Amino acid sequence: MDGLPVASPWPATASDLLFREATEADVEALLAFRNDPEVNRFMVRTHVDPEDLRREVLASPMSPTDYSCVVERDGHVVAMGFLDVVDGAGQPGHPRGTDGVIGYVVRSDAARQGVGTATASALLHAAFERLGLRRVTARANADNVASVRVLERAGMRRERYAVQALWHQELGWLDEVEYALLAEEWTSLRRRTS
Ligand SMILES: CC(C)(COP(=O)(O)OP(=O)(O)OC[C@H]1O[C@@H](n2cnc3c(N)ncnc32)[C@H](O)[C@@H]1OP(=O)(O)O)[C@@H](O)C(=O)NCCC(=O)NCCS
Repeated sequence: MDGLPVASPWPATASDLLFREATEADVEALLAFRNDPEVNRFMVRTHVDPEDLRREVLASPMSPTDYSCVVERDGHVVAMGFLDVVDGAGQPGHPRGTDGVIGYVVRSDAARQGVGTATASALLHAAFERLGLRRVTARANADNVASVRVLERAGMRRERYAVQALWHQELGWLDEVEYALLAEEWTSLRRRTS
């Protein structure tokens, strides 16, 4: 990427889901489920201030590194997807903006219907095929079985298991898992599944 402007990967569709940039009109709907205790139980950032969310939503389409999206089904927002472009690690001079980090949140009444997996897949598609990224990672609390399952169903590879790495208000120190996928792995995954 190295500073070159890249067109937004959104909108995109997959079966009955539309992935698109968020607008001011989405803020109320997003807040309603982002701050739902059932949804934010495992999130590092639990409660989100309404003004912060509004600012983040409106800034995202202008950002050269934030390619977050909302997920719409039948005219209703059912999930949010997060895709941040980041620098890889390494010695001075390494290429910048080559990697991505993904995340997702699904409205509790839309859970267990494949929305989380479809969102992770759409984010990987956007990262590799639209933004030309090299490597994408995602982290989850090891106890968050649904999120771990989403990453595995989306085809990501477990790379790291960190013991007692994340503090949880009710559960104490929890283990964390990190998953990754390289562009070439994405290509062979697509070949195998299409
Ligand atoms: C994690 C989350 C995104 C999963 O989304 P989802 O739309 O329910 O996921 P899917 O329907 O694609 O299901 C994926 C898998 O997870 C399983 N799953 C979903 N919810 C589950 C739950 N509460 N308990 C156990 N397994 C669950 C599904 O059965 C499916 O597994 P399978 O492949 O064995 O059938 C959603 O529950 C959520 O937003 N949780 C709160 C926010 C969060 O934790 N985000 C991730 C932060 S890292």
